[in-house]
Amino acid sequence: AARLRVREALGSREAADKVKVQGWVRSVRSQKEVLFLHINDGSSLESLQVVADPSLECRDLTFGSAVEVQGKLVKSPHKMQDVELQAEAIHVVGPCDTLSFPFKIKERHPLEYVRQFPHLRCRSNALGALLRIRSEATAAIHSFFQDNGYVHIHTPIITSNDCEGAGELFQIGTSQEAKESAEKKHFFNVPTFLTVSGQLHLEAMAGAFTRVFTFGPTFRAENSQSRRHLAEFYMVEAELSFTESLQDIMQVMEHLFKTATSTVFSKCPRDVELFHKYVAPAQKGRLEQMLKNKFVIISYNEAVEILKQASQTFNFKPEWGCDLQTEHEKYLVKHCGDVPVFVINYPYDLKPFYMRDNEDGPQHTVAAVDLLVPGIGELCGGSLREERLPFLESRLQRLGLTDAYQWYLDLRKFGSVPHGGFGMGFERYLQYILGVDNIKDVIPFPRFPHSCLL
Ligand code: 4AD
Ligand code: MG
Repeated sequence: AARLRVREALGSREAADKVKVQGWVRSVRSQKEVLFLHINDGSSLESLQVVADPSLECRDLTFGSAVEVQGKLVKSPHKMQDVELQAEAIHVVGPCDTLSFPFKIKERHPLEYVRQFPHLRCRSNALGALLRIRSEATAAIHSFFQDNGYVHIHTPIITSNDCEGAGELFQIGTSQEAKESAEKKHFFNVPTFLTVSGQLHLEAMAGAFTRVFTFGPTFRAENSQSRRHLAEFYMVEAELSFTESLQDIMQVMEHLFKTATSTVFSKCPRDVELFHKYVAPAQKGRLEQMLKNKFVIISYNEAVEILKQASQTFNFKPEWGCDLQTEHEKYLVKHCGDVPVFVINYPYDLKPFYMRDNEDGPQHTVAAVDLLVPGIGELCGGSLREERLPFLESRLQRLGLTDAYQWYLDLRKFGSVPHGGFGMGFERYLQYILGVDNIKDVIPFPRFPHSCLL
C-alpha cells in the first residue's frame, strides 16, 4: 500500500486503491452500520474521514490513539469533504488512556488550559495550526533575507558581552571541574552568559558581508509576567553596512514584515483562518488593510507631546526623557489609527551605548527606532550604530567598558562604515499577525519566571 499523509489524501483528485494513512484519532463515532473516524497527522488542520465496517472497531480504537488505516480513497458523498478513506484494515499502533488523557473528545479546550501540557497541546487544532504557521513564517523570513542579498550568520548563544547593557543576563554556571579548583573560576576563564542579542556579532560580520542576518534564540532574565515577555524567545536581526539614514532601516523592517506576512497568509490560509475566525475575529480585515498602507513615522518628541495631551489616562505620567511604557505605546498606536508606528530619535540617556549620537542640542537624542504595533506595543527595536571611533570610545569610557569592548572598537579602526540594523521579536510578530493574546501560546515550549515545564 502507498503511504499518504493526510494532507495529500485530502488534496487528491482521484480515487486510489491500497493506500495507507497514519495518524492520531480525533474522533470516533460508531453507528449501527458504520464506524466513522477522523484522523490527523499534523500535515493539515483538517482531519481525514475514515469510514469502516463496525466489525473493525476494537477496544483500543479511541480518541487520542495512534492508528494506521489501510483502504481505498474514494470521493466522499458528504458535503464537508471531498474524499474519504474506506477502511479495509485498522491497526492501533499506540493506544491512549482516555481517562487520564488531559483532552476530551469534542470539547474545545481554552488556550490557558492546554498551556499546562506543552508536550501534548501540539495535538490540538489551535496549537497545531500555530506551529505550522510558525514553521512557514520562519521559512518566509529566511527567504526574504536570502532573496535580498543577506548572508545568514549563526551568532553565538554563549557570549561574554551584555549587548543591551540592561543587566538581564542569564549567567552560565561554572563547570564541575572548575568548582573543585580554587583558581579556575570559570569554564571560559571569563564570566559568560546566554546571549540577549546577536547584534554585536552581526556588526562584525556586516563589516565583511555588507548585509547579514541572524534568527535564533535569545534570553532575558526579565522578571516579567506580562503577556509579551518570555525568558527565551526568538529574534530576527539584520545589520546593514553603508547605511546613513534610519529611513533605510525602517524600509527593511517594513518590507520584511509585509513580505513575510503575505507569504504566511497565502501559504497556510486555513491555519491562519482558524485564528482570524475564532481567536481574533477583528484582526483579519485590519491586517489586510495594514499590508497595503505605509507605516506611520513619528519622532520621540512628537510621541511625548501626544502622550502629554492625554496625561490623565496613564498610570505612568509621560515626560521627556522617560522610556515609553506599554500603556504609552498602545495609546500611540491607537492615536495614529490603529496601525504600525515607527517612533524615532529617542533620548541619548535611555538607550544602549552602541546607538549613533544625533548631536542635537539640549534634548539630546540618538538615531534609534522602535516599531510599535496594535495590541502589543514594541515589535522591533533598531538604530544606526555609532561608527565614529572618538564618539564610541568616550561613551564606553564613561561606562567603564573600554577593556571589554576592544574588539568592538577595532571595528571602528579598520574600515569603519556607517551602518545600522534592527531586531524583531518573532513571538510578538506571530502574536500580532494572528491576534494571539498571550505570548506563551505562540512558542512550543514557553519559558518564563517560575516556569520551565519539561
Ligand atoms: O529592543 P531589543 O532589546 O533590541 C535588541 O536586542 C537589539 N540589539 C536588536 C538589534 O538591533 N539587532 O529587542 C528586540 C525585540 C523587541 O522589540 C521585542 O519585540 C523582542 O525583541 N523582545 C522580546 N520578546 C519576547 N520576550 C522578551 N522578554 C523580549 N525582549 C525583547
Ligand atoms: Mg527595545
